[in-house]
Amino acid sequence: MDEALDQLRDLATQADGVDRHKVLDAIRDLQLQLETPHDTLSRFSGLQLEIAAARIGVDLDIFKTLEENAQPLSTAVLSSKTNAAPLVMSRLLRYLASVGMIQEVSRDNFAANAITKTLAQPGYEGGIRHFFDNIGPVLQSFPDFLAETKYQDVSNATNSAFQKAFSTDLPAFVWLPTKPERFAPLQQVMTVQGTAGVPWFSVFPFEKELGDFADTDVFVDVGGGFGHQCLALLAAFPGLRGKIILEDLPQTFEQIPFKLDGIEPKPHNFFEPQPVKGARFYYLRNILHDWPDDKCIAILQPLIAAFGPASQIIIDEMVLPDSGVSWEATTIDLTLMASFGSRERTTAQWHALLDAAGLKVLRIDTYQARRQDSIIQAIPK
Ligand SMILES: C[S@@+](CC[C@H](N)C(=O)[O-])C[C@H]1O[C@@H](n2cnc3c(N)ncnc32)[C@H](O)[C@@H]1O
Repeated sequence: MDEALDQLRDLATQADGVDRHKVLDAIRDLQLQLETPHDTLSRFSGLQLEIAAARIGVDLDIFKTLEENAQPLSTAVLSSKTNAAPLVMSRLLRYLASVGMIQEVSRDNFAANAITKTLAQPGYEGGIRHFFDNIGPVLQSFPDFLAETKYQDVSNATNSAFQKAFSTDLPAFVWLPTKPERFAPLQQVMTVQGTAGVPWFSVFPFEKELGDFADTDVFVDVGGGFGHQCLALLAAFPGLRGKIILEDLPQTFEQIPFKLDGIEPKPHNFFEPQPVKGARFYYLRNILHDWPDDKCIAILQPLIAAFGPASQIIIDEMVLPDSGVSWEATTIDLTLMASFGSRERTTAQWHALLDAAGLKVLRIDTYQARRQDSIIQAIPK
């Protein structure tokens, strides 16, 4: 048995890319198959605690502090650094180690492991805050919201579990920007969301599509958040310096923690007329999945109105298969239903939406197999 487990471990640690996801999914399946009813109940009992404890770890800078220290730190040191009572700190550390967020190296001594190092980074720290502070209350309201609306497909941008959770009539993306302490973590996590694997322009023939386009406005990242995709594109194609425009809400630009070198920032509401006319690429990553179809059409129409003869839209989103959708994609899909009254879309749903907006799809290229992250290239019909 031990030898077989060692072989499995060797195999698993050598896997990368698609194989790594296969191994992870196989381990997950195996774990579920092995569970007794007691194990199943224990797993459920820990789900909410895990994110709550991670949030406490972030609040107390436990992950950052351990990551910054090459040597293990004792409970007493962490307790004095944070002013948390030694008993509270020791129980917290014991829990965090037991679920693998930190490493217990000896009695009362803890060090950073790979997960600690992840959670110490701003994007993932933002993820903990966003999932706990923003998504947590929404999911708490989700079952009652669905029961009250009799499990009908009533949700829209102003009527989803989000409005019930936060007692507002506003769409999430109107309410959240008015709350900087909630909006900043959302923007931070977007910079690392879905970053595993190959970049989108490795499957999309960017240079070929750019061709001999000579104007300055090459690439407009519509709702581009902190500009991480613009920066990645510029790093891959340095000739685009000064030719990339980042658009988002003014509140987003107020939160960007770094300098956007070589990229033009343009505060803009994408429901208003598009200020950049005739660009080669209007790029929308994870924008349309935040909105129901009618709002997506309202986002796409100002872009079509701004089109020049060489313009095209590139949509960077999941394109779901009709069956066998991965847990990662279904998790995001239901979170979108609860938060925005929106959804991830299948190939047929994308074609129907873009057709209704007056667009035709030229090609769909998938660059991340598990989530089915894909590039949809579209031009007016
Ligand atoms: C899910 S995030 C995606 C961010 C980025 N495109 C990415 O893929 O990481 C949605 C983005 O849309 C922006 N947004 C929401 N409503 C907007 C509006 N009316 N006008 C412009 N941007 C908006 C948000 O601020 C946020 O940056």
